[in-house]
Amino acid sequence: MPRLRSFRNSWALAANPIPVISDYLDQFGDTIGLHLGGVRPTLLTRDPGLIQHILQKNHRNYPKSEMSHGVARYLGHGLLTSEGSYWLQQRRLIQPGFHRQRLAALTELMLDVIEECLGPVAAAAQAQGGSVEVPVHELMTTTAFRIIARSVFSTSMTEAELQRMAQLLTDIQAFYVRTLRQPYLRPWLGVSGQYRHHDALSAEMRRLIMSYIQRRKAEGGAGKDDLLQMLLDARYEDTGEPMTDEQVLDEAAILLVAGHETSANALSWLWYLLAQHPEEAARMRAETQPVLGPRRPTFAELPALPYSLQVVQETLRLYPPAWIVDRQAAEDDEYNGLPLPKGTLISAYLYGVHHLARLWPEPEAFRPARFSKEQQREQPPYAYLPFGGGPRLCIGNQFALTEMQLVLLEVLRRFEVEWVEQPPVQMRPLITLRPRAEIRLRFRLR
Ligand code: HEM
Repeated sequence: MPRLRSFRNSWALAANPIPVISDYLDQFGDTIGLHLGGVRPTLLTRDPGLIQHILQKNHRNYPKSEMSHGVARYLGHGLLTSEGSYWLQQRRLIQPGFHRQRLAALTELMLDVIEECLGPVAAAAQAQGGSVEVPVHELMTTTAFRIIARSVFSTSMTEAELQRMAQLLTDIQAFYVRTLRQPYLRPWLGVSGQYRHHDALSAEMRRLIMSYIQRRKAEGGAGKDDLLQMLLDARYEDTGEPMTDEQVLDEAAILLVAGHETSANALSWLWYLLAQHPEEAARMRAETQPVLGPRRPTFAELPALPYSLQVVQETLRLYPPAWIVDRQAAEDDEYNGLPLPKGTLISAYLYGVHHLARLWPEPEAFRPARFSKEQQREQPPYAYLPFGGGPRLCIGNQFALTEMQLVLLEVLRRFEVEWVEQPPVQMRPLITLRPRAEIRLRFRLR
């Protein structure tokens, strides 16, 4: 049974949680008790067995915590924020919409967006003698947002609306993170009208999305193959009825949020790693060249480029954007002799699992070859879970892997990405795992 310790050092946790948490776990074992100011017992674990227990084997006893549900105030009740029978009904309805065929159709659209985003970088490099320094997190955030926004709404959004939507989402998320990380500010945020202001932003976002839904329904949707059309066309198995407009709105908003910052952060870390490992970029090119030559890839060709996928997978191991996943025990339970009383909050520390030396030799080293077919077969269950596990596994996981693989291939087709001397890049784990400051890299035209 793991030895449980209590840590009241929540200030240190708030400032820079990952090294602090990892230190505690190295000292006291893979599961620790925490006191984060609350009265309920809180556990944090990097034990793959316990994580499998809460996410999969006994998942019925472990709904998401209130922290996850709080997001519903701003985003509504979509897949990510709902529970129980309503969640299951929605998941069954929406899951088929993410099949391979739809992804194949979205690939062309993703490639067009990537071209749109890289065009100005290439032009700037051209104007500056062949290379340009790029704020990579900003570029990847723009790219990932445009990919998900166009995948959901295709061409319904104007350029101005696209920018407004990105701004609304950023502001709402930043505010929500503040209320979570600094709960003592809540009374002040109330008095100063901050809640009201952000509720208004969220209402504006919903109005915007509703206008696309209504326009699409009026137009009939012929020839549209985006995720909005998928939501509108879906029918409940038992009744044959579609979702209401409100439900479509909730689900569309969730896809925008869930599919935006996660991918943007993963892609930023990907370039951070590759710029420091030119030998891995060279290895990828050696694989790509004979298959694609100077062309852009098609969806059908992606399986013939396994090393590029391995680079993506290894990035998600080292920097899992969803670095922590929360659950709460609905009834008394236990795991291997560890009591898990009703109400216990459990944080599955995915980052910690991905950095365990007994699962991942030399865990800090960037080695895409760990994800070769042969080596992957040896991974124990729940050693690798960037997309979570069990029934609430990320519904966009194939979408995200495809998107990242395409961005990787398309950038390397046009540019060499080179390291630029800069202060050490630190992690900033909020809801997702971001770089603390901008990452600057040199993009050199090939
Ligand atoms: C690298 C990118 C991504 C990562 C690392 C990621 C990670 C995750 C994780 C860990 C969960 C489970 C959370 C939990 O169990 O509490 C999740 C759920 C979810 N993700 Fe993703 N995600 C990514 C991209 C996407 C994309 C692109 C979409 C949409 C197109 C998406 C849509 C969702 C939705 C709707 C859920 C909720 C599923 C449910 O509860 O049924 N994600 N994601």
